[in-house]
Amino acid sequence: MEDIALTLPTKGSRGGAGAAGRANVRKVLCAEGVGGSRLFCGTMTSLYQIKIENQGSVLRLVLLPHPRGPNLSTTSTCEEVSASLGSSVRFHAFWLRDNALDALTRDPRNGQRLITLADLPEEVKILNAHFSISNSSFPPNAESEIHSAYLELPRDRSLCPDLPKVAVTLSPENRTFEFPLAWLLENAYGRVRPESCPSVRTPKGVTLWDSNQIETLMATTRDLETLKQGGEDLRVWLESVWRFGFVKVSGVPAESGGLFSIVDAFGGFVRETNYGRLFEVRTELNPTNLAYTGLGLQAHTDNPYRDPAPTLQILSCIENSCDGGESLVVDGFAAALRLREEDPHGFHLLSTYPMRFEFKGAKGVHLYARRPMIEVSADGELVAIRFNSRSAASVRDVPFEEIEKWYAAYKRLSAIFDDPRMTIRFKLAPGEAFIVDNTRVLHAWTRFSGVSGKRWLIRTGFSQCTRPLKAM
Ligand SMILES: [Fe+2]
Repeated sequence: MEDIALTLPTKGSRGGAGAAGRANVRKVLCAEGVGGSRLFCGTMTSLYQIKIENQGSVLRLVLLPHPRGPNLSTTSTCEEVSASLGSSVRFHAFWLRDNALDALTRDPRNGQRLITLADLPEEVKILNAHFSISNSSFPPNAESEIHSAYLELPRDRSLCPDLPKVAVTLSPENRTFEFPLAWLLENAYGRVRPESCPSVRTPKGVTLWDSNQIETLMATTRDLETLKQGGEDLRVWLESVWRFGFVKVSGVPAESGGLFSIVDAFGGFVRETNYGRLFEVRTELNPTNLAYTGLGLQAHTDNPYRDPAPTLQILSCIENSCDGGESLVVDGFAAALRLREEDPHGFHLLSTYPMRFEFKGAKGVHLYARRPMIEVSADGELVAIRFNSRSAASVRDVPFEEIEKWYAAYKRLSAIFDDPRMTIRFKLAPGEAFIVDNTRVLHAWTRFSGVSGKRWLIRTGFSQCTRPLKAM
């Protein structure tokens, strides 16, 4: 057995055994075994042995004290994870694929997901898993042999950006995805256990709908000038917001601020965000947000990474001369209840365990919320739907033994949202707008082309009390 001393790049001070206690020092102490099959790294103050076990459909990382090192530190993130999870953390192969960090899966500029669940293989297996350490002098040809490491994880991982990664090759794509070890430990799931499933109902006055009700929903259309007059038209129109979570309006000035007239009809107020009072949805080169592209978007609720999430959203059309670019809306409550009918336990999982949503934008914007995808009140009333695969961060709060069922329910709910039988599809004309209750109704648009025309929508979010009142 041969020891090989190696040093990983650091921003902090350098040192070896003599630097014991310096939090910033990262040093591979030794590797042993033929081809470097075991790797030791870290300071002398806090060492762990982490072994990789490929169990086919599950990746297991086993955390053990360094047999030749001092007692474990009480300060590292690694230990916090270890203490909360026990001696190992496990990741399903599908979870790894779903949460892959590569540039084809997530936009490196803002972290938004570039694929949907439907893009993922039905069955994912782990072909190979090993540690990968870049920028070190570790023999490159031995890298694939590293299946065990001793290391310390600092609280501030920017101090040590080259901590070992775990390289996982997944089938059937036969692609290798790298995960920073610290990221895996931080995002490990399986801490809690499920409770019993409550009964569920819709709020009073809500009417569920699907594609068969397209005429009913299109009949909610009122002219803006008529709404400004108040009276029965306005009352019925406002009631429709509560009943259907959707209304249309015509006669809106085809200009940026035109939709504020609609907000005024509600007596509401605009909820300004980091995007400003308005958000433009149009084709733009080199987009920083997927809403700027000509790609179609899966049905979603807006901004689930805000807490509270936006309630009422207006989408107003200024120009829509392109091919495609139709709008779609889906009743999230109807979809959730359909899932519950098909898979009560899956519904229970999605309504019990929080999903994490995250967005990183320009100028240091970093938004984060942790809420169930299907929110149900304590007495069983549907409260809200949050579904946006592009803003979905890794799920951490589902018990390990439930994660496959959780994913099955997540995928099924996604498929229900995509089902044309659930979808109302229409094309907005300039001067038209629609409003959705973003806590219930999902919206989407089909792929469009900027070659044969332009598509330019304006969106704003606004609030009126907690829900639109049903009568004036
Ligand atoms: Fe949206």
